Amino acid sequence: MPEYQTSPGTRDILAPDSTRWRRLVSVFAEVVESAGFGQIIPPMFEDLGVFLRLGEATDIVTKEMYDFEDKGGRRIALRPEMTAGVVRAFVQHRPVLPWKVWYAGPNFRYEKAQQGRYRQFDQVGVEVLGVDDPHLDAEVIALAWEFYARLGLSQVRLIVNSLGEPADRAAYVEALRAYFSQHADALSVESKQTLQRNPLRVLDSKREQDAPLIAGAPVITDFYSAGAADHFATVLAGLERLAVPFEIRPGLVRGLDYYRKTTFEFIGGALESSQNAVGGGGRYDGLAEDLGGPATPGIGFALGVDRTLLECDAEGAFRAPSESVAVFVVDVTGGLEALSLTAELRAHGISADRAYEGRGMKSQMKAADRSGARFALIVGGDELANGTVTLRPMLGAVGDERAQTTVPRTELIPTLKRALSS
Ligand code: HAM
Repeated sequence: MPEYQTSPGTRDILAPDSTRWRRLVSVFAEVVESAGFGQIIPPMFEDLGVFLRLGEATDIVTKEMYDFEDKGGRRIALRPEMTAGVVRAFVQHRPVLPWKVWYAGPNFRYEKAQQGRYRQFDQVGVEVLGVDDPHLDAEVIALAWEFYARLGLSQVRLIVNSLGEPADRAAYVEALRAYFSQHADALSVESKQTLQRNPLRVLDSKREQDAPLIAGAPVITDFYSAGAADHFATVLAGLERLAVPFEIRPGLVRGLDYYRKTTFEFIGGALESSQNAVGGGGRYDGLAEDLGGPATPGIGFALGVDRTLLECDAEGAFRAPSESVAVFVVDVTGGLEALSLTAELRAHGISADRAYEGRGMKSQMKAADRSGARFALIVGGDELANGTVTLRPMLGAVGDERAQTTVPRTELIPTLKRALSS
């Protein structure tokens, strides 16, 4: 085993998976750019304080942050998510409202690594600042839905909830605290600890012991102010109008503290429940103010790239593309012809590869076969003398000799273009 390997929770993404990865981001960019979003590329690390606003009672902040002091004595953290950095950028640049941005890139959380749960993972996502309209919530959710549809996914489910106005949420948290405290003896040890930090998160416990108590817990729905109830109803009506199917889940509490009103998650129907949240988001109307900006409403989502691709694997959707080049140049005259022919083909938009080190015909044909190219372009002594090349369709290790043709060098590009388009 080599001395150095990827550290736990990190992976190398190799071709063709990396190609598939890049295409997924392109599909996302197409969907959101057609809705007027522009890309933001924020830094991967920020002042620790930016991320402390995610909530001092959340695991992401207390247990999972990669934070350190840099050589200038600053407290820095690798970003565990993108929303806080985007809102910091908003406060810093004060762009014209509404501000609609999308992003793609890695995030870092010190989690217990397992399939679908990594310490470095990628997200694609959007954020909108400056719009207080529940129709936007529906529109934003529908963009993620459209993205899943374009990937060919059909088993993703949407669950939605509203956490109400801040006062509703606070009253609800107190009711939960009182309820769980009253029945603390029946709670698991872990949930007892969670209760001290954040009663909402007890609802997230997957432990069997906690299930009966959670089932009887107060529900947020009973704590909505008239405004919050109206807002939620309008979001749901919007989703219905857009034909986006949803499931209301009053127990949906997200792992970040900044949410108000609308929250949602996308569940990958083909994944195990420990890592089946393929995406999530919600409203965070107080965050800009928390980061020192003017009170500004905000909403967005982030979709996990790694998990979305696992869901694609499980559903047999959005398969990895074939990586092969179109043409493999086989030059048995020394290699100079291969050097210029590959350059010429590539300059005309035809992908091409070759073998090196002056290998013989047999070895080069084997390489051509392995490359998956549709055609081998053969240059031997005769071809070189006559100013021609031999174009051989590849079928197995030696290609189809009977179907090969001799083409003048001057006719090569148009001939190849015709052959490749048929
Ligand atoms: P989140 O729910 O923490 O929300 O993360 C969003 C998605 O990122 C998850 O649904 C999951 O697919 C993926 N993800 C999270 N942690 C991991 C991990 N350790 N390994 C693999 N995938 C992971 C946010 O990050 C919010 N910033 C979303 C948001 C945007 N809310 C408003 N705007």
